[in-house]
Amino acid sequence: MSIKFDIQPAANPTSEKDRVAKLADPGFGRVFTDHMAIVRYNQAKGGWYDARIEARANFQLDPAGAVLHYAQEIFEGLKAYKRDDGGVNLFRPDANARRFKDSADRMAMAQLPEDVFIEAVEQVVRIDRDWIPGGEGSLYLRPFMIASEIFLGVKPSSEYIFAVIASPVGSYFKGGPAPVSIWASENYTRAAVGGTGAVKCGGNYAASLRAQAEAIQHGCDQVVFLDAVERRYIEELGGMNVFFVFEDGSLSTPPLGTILPGITRDSIIALANDAGKTVREELYSLDQWRKDAASGKLKEAFACGTAAVISPIGKVRSVSGDFDICGGAAGPVAMGLRKQLIDIQYGRTNDPHNWIKKVF
Ligand code: PLP
Ligand code: COI
Repeated sequence: MSIKFDIQPAANPTSEKDRVAKLADPGFGRVFTDHMAIVRYNQAKGGWYDARIEARANFQLDPAGAVLHYAQEIFEGLKAYKRDDGGVNLFRPDANARRFKDSADRMAMAQLPEDVFIEAVEQVVRIDRDWIPGGEGSLYLRPFMIASEIFLGVKPSSEYIFAVIASPVGSYFKGGPAPVSIWASENYTRAAVGGTGAVKCGGNYAASLRAQAEAIQHGCDQVVFLDAVERRYIEELGGMNVFFVFEDGSLSTPPLGTILPGITRDSIIALANDAGKTVREELYSLDQWRKDAASGKLKEAFACGTAAVISPIGKVRSVSGDFDICGGAAGPVAMGLRKQLIDIQYGRTNDPHNWIKKVF
């Protein structure tokens, strides 16, 4: 499907002086660009219509809008990277577009054609190009879709708003790539078989906040969830997938099913395979993790995702005890993969899997 975006630049964009000040230390997800993309859907009108690029502004939402009551909402996260030659790269936007469709399907929402998703993202990057930080910063793009039908009955909405907003970002964790500490939640679970764990709906994150708050209370950066049936096997962090590195050079990561199929996860598996490393997608228990860290069989663990890139895990805490990994330091495998991935994203090295889409 092709749809033409009506482009209406903001009448009062941020001044260059203010933009430069905001870009100096943007943190994560607090600074926003001047524009957004919007596409509407109405079943009765025959589908997607009214595609626009316009000034970022509040939505008009009726108080009975379905999303406000039954949380029919999905989102994505991807980044635009400034290359040294001044051009701009997107990393695997086709994979985000596909996952967005899968999320829509699971949440009984209208499916946005993948080319419209990618076009909307590219248009926002084009119009807000000056907002992409240099150095190790990037422009985090947040496509999302909400159910906007005015109706209190519980059923799939017949109207949706798809939008893309953009936020210049630095590091997700305050310490940058310094090792993070994680709290293994033995009280709360994230996802069960047949549930929504494998898609990116806002509700998954709402349900994770209590466990994340518990992680912070215990001095940890992030929560890691265990499986909902046996409460033994590692699943993923609140907003990242997880990998383990063993003394024989192999890696393992929890299998797909109830976890988000991370695009970073998939990319790491490909890069590790390219380097001749074995990567197992298999169940791994918290108990085994603790034993392997103590015996030295486990050398490293790291979290990965678009926002966090690759962050080594230095410490694990839980009600059944704490343990360190790699002496609490960043390990060479995590840091090597991190550099390799970042170099591809910023166009500093070749791109053997054709992951990069140049916007400029
Ligand atoms: N798991 C969860 C729960 C996430 O929110 C994310 C972030 O998007 C990831 C994993 C990593 O996914 P990706 O690598 O596609 O960003
Ligand atoms: C992302 O990495 O894109 C995410 O959605 C994670 C979120 C915690 C910011």
